Amino acid sequence: MKKYRVGIVGTGGIAHAHIQGYRSVANDICEVVAACDANQRVLNEYCSKYDIPYHFTNAIDLIESGKVDVISLLTPPSVRSDIIFPAFDNGIHILVEKPFAECLSDAISFVEAAEKAGVGLAVNQSLRFMPDVLKMRELVKAGKIGQIRFISHDHYQNRTQTKGWRKDEKRLEISIFSIHILDRIRWLVGSKPKKVSAVTRYWDDNVKGETFTSLTIQFENGVIGTMVSNWHSVIPDCRFRIDGTKGSILSEKKAVTGDESTLTIKYTNKEAEKYSFNRRNAAKMNMGESMKELLSALNENRQPHNSGRDNLQTMAIVDAAYLSSSRDGYLINIKELGLNKALL
Ligand SMILES: NC(=O)c1ccc[n+]([C@@H]2O[C@H](COP(=O)([O-])OP(=O)(O)OC[C@H]3O[C@@H](n4cnc5c(N)ncnc54)[C@H](O)[C@@H]3O)[C@@H](O)[C@H]2O)c1
Repeated sequence: MKKYRVGIVGTGGIAHAHIQGYRSVANDICEVVAACDANQRVLNEYCSKYDIPYHFTNAIDLIESGKVDVISLLTPPSVRSDIIFPAFDNGIHILVEKPFAECLSDAISFVEAAEKAGVGLAVNQSLRFMPDVLKMRELVKAGKIGQIRFISHDHYQNRTQTKGWRKDEKRLEISIFSIHILDRIRWLVGSKPKKVSAVTRYWDDNVKGETFTSLTIQFENGVIGTMVSNWHSVIPDCRFRIDGTKGSILSEKKAVTGDESTLTIKYTNKEAEKYSFNRRNAAKMNMGESMKELLSALNENRQPHNSGRDNLQTMAIVDAAYLSSSRDGYLINIKELGLNKALL
């Protein structure tokens, strides 16, 4: 099996989860050999903590060094194209953190460039890899609950301490947090989004973006998906349910990133079955699973399920949601976004 040389760009908060995840679950397929951060102090601390041989303060120097096959792009959402295009020009594959891009049209340009260069591109929608969600997907794909009719994912947290670059993000709650939830809804439904309606609220004076979202998606296969995400809830709660023609599945946990969850599966006229999950450091391990999916796909000459192309539909929901909320919840047909048909 080919072992890929990884360079991490952006060694801030989430970079710690990435390297720990890679070293725990993707050690056989990759090795972090280089790191880059514009902040020299942050870079030095990271490289000495994790014993990384090659250090760069400029991503172009890393890209042109010939030391890496893959970049793990862990910078804030505004830092994408400056690194993605030169990396592709140098034949480097990319795993990029969510949000894939600041808007759908940027995301489309990244997918087109990757396909032209013949390199791999995946998006770190890491919360797909939570054990409860993998089990839900397995049951849905096996047809256990019949045809899906309704799916809802609600998340309540107390997140009024927003710091750093997030304070200035005009697209905050949906783009930075709920994008995980929307991606999980879409991944389980397995159909393209058709119409979106969203209402947002700006309840935190210390930040520029929205901190509450209530959203509905109508999918092409007729499934209705709903999501509520509130950053001002004192009681934490995370629920993900699917209702099908033969049964329902409900995942309950305190936070979407938490290790512990309970899954209840109830088929019509049968006793409920319960599963408990407790994967230690699940959110960190997910980063390794996500990188492993990209690199395994490269080795097997297939598209990873978290590919950039796949993510265009999550980005389409996000763009439609912001357009809808700017019109006070007006129903947006995804076609209104004026997309190239071949890309959706
Ligand atoms: N998947 C998840 O669960 C998850 C969780 C947290 C954050 N994220 C995502 O990860 C990304 C980073 O978030 P974070 O919390 O680690 O932010 P952060 O601010 O802690 O770290 C970002 C780092 O990028 C560096 N940087 C900025 N511009 C750069 C450039 N041009 N070249 C090199 N380095 C540069 C900064 O100096 C900083 O150290 C965001 O896209 C965020 O949405 C994902």
